Amino acid sequence: MPRKIIHDCDPGHDDAIAMMLALASPELEVLGITTVYGNVGLEHTAHNALVVLEILGCKVPVYAGADRPLVRERISAELVHGNSGLEGPDLPTPTAKLQKQHAVHFIIEQVLSHPGQVTLVPTGTLTNIALAMRLEPKIIPAIQQIVLMGGSIDIGNWSPSAEFNILCDPHAAKIVFDSGVPLMMCGLNLTHQTLALPERVARFRGLGTPVGEFTAQLLEFFRQHHKQRFGWEGPPIHDACAIAFLVRPELFKTRLYNVEIEANEGLAYGRTVCDYWRVTGKAPNTEVGLEVDLEGFYDLLVERIGQYR
Ligand code: RIB
Ligand code: CA
Repeated sequence: MPRKIIHDCDPGHDDAIAMMLALASPELEVLGITTVYGNVGLEHTAHNALVVLEILGCKVPVYAGADRPLVRERISAELVHGNSGLEGPDLPTPTAKLQKQHAVHFIIEQVLSHPGQVTLVPTGTLTNIALAMRLEPKIIPAIQQIVLMGGSIDIGNWSPSAEFNILCDPHAAKIVFDSGVPLMMCGLNLTHQTLALPERVARFRGLGTPVGEFTAQLLEFFRQHHKQRFGWEGPPIHDACAIAFLVRPELFKTRLYNVEIEANEGLAYGRTVCDYWRVTGKAPNTEVGLEVDLEGFYDLLVERIGQYR
């Protein structure tokens, strides 16, 4: 039976590639795409999800969720993803419309309808997930697993301490990481291994399909910021790691750790504090991604994205 997932995202170049992988993987049943502010404002991330589905030719319901964090001021990443959030490729006008139901209500409805069978896959800030937990605490024991892109066991990318998705809403992340729901975390320590170097981008373009070309153009735009800030020849495909873990977990080396969120302002605001040497004696709450088989990761992406016509 395919694994039921809800992909909660802020497309976003790498979110778009995560969507492509999820929707081309028979191992997964995407119940819906929920969107959240993050890389850019909600009006753009929700629209971008519809645009990506239009390009893929997929009919999946899209729900708009939170447009701001629980407490802190909203931050965003136009410098990375452009003002639209999907700068680079020419984009179609989507024919599909957003669902009227709020993303948080959709998440609650689906988790309670399929207790123990729905995996939430947030690849943006955790505001929608936290709101769902607060609005309906009954979903907490009913969520099968949360497989997220966010955090890091070492350095940050938006502050010296914190990764962008977690820093966007540290209070939401604290609710999620303290919830007791089984978590798998694809942090920067893992995702930074997946740089889409030119020879890897060429594999997508070499598919000779519109979606292959779309993927290559997304990555070529996404490279600009990463070259300028990090000096890298290609961007990490952060969000696709979360989906790839669900499809091919054997590609990943993981270990269980206690991970807690610093939700107090200061130098470590938004940090995922990983008890790597188990010095606290606290029980592990998170399966942390440590390594990925890069050849297998890119073979999977090229093979699945190659299925779109
Ligand atoms: O820090 C990387 C994360 O922030 C990715 O999910 C990217 O899409 C942005 O949301
Ligand atoms: Ca994202």
